Amino acid sequence: MDLKSLIRDIPDFPKPGILFRDITTLLRDPEGLRYTIDLFTEKCIESGLQADYVVGMESRGFIFGPPLAYKLGAGFIPVRKRGKLPAAVHSIEYELEYGTDCLEMHQDALHSNSRVLIVDDLIATGGTANATAKLVEKFGCELVGFGFIIELRDLQGRKHLPDVPIISLMEY
Ligand code: PRP
Ligand code: MG
Repeated sequence: MDLKSLIRDIPDFPKPGILFRDITTLLRDPEGLRYTIDLFTEKCIESGLQADYVVGMESRGFIFGPPLAYKLGAGFIPVRKRGKLPAAVHSIEYELEYGTDCLEMHQDALHSNSRVLIVDDLIATGGTANATAKLVEKFGCELVGFGFIIELRDLQGRKHLPDVPIISLMEY
């Protein structure tokens, strides 16, 4: 299946000069959605990305993380923006183009013997994924790798990530 044909390109969103890769057109296609999740699962298994937990980042990581976790027989752990999680959290601040942002995980979400796979819809600069890796490091557990549906190669995001396997289903 040609997955790229299900991604809609929107010029000048969210600001002039940015070409937005819209996944909503893939998500609404029943065969495309099933194929994407099945392929994602296969690629993770092939690359040895077997984990106890899939960690996904708010908000588009919440779309692909849980079905992947289900297929891998893993649990799913949400990484949320500041102030959204109710129990005690670990936090990480990271740089944005303008200013900083903050991601949080529950302190009891992982243990030192957990194997973790970090999943998001897309990697651009790698800032979000790298911040999540730093958050996971606070638990002293094993990061087995990263999985993305889309990778924007020109931005070289994978250069900013720890040296573990990184898979993506589509490259631009
Ligand atoms: C987008 C995307 C990734 C991140 C990638 O999320 O879903 O999480 O950007 O960019 P990076 O590699 O440069 O960090 P966004 O922050 O737009 O929020 P959303 O998932 O809530 O839409
Ligand atoms: Mg996101």
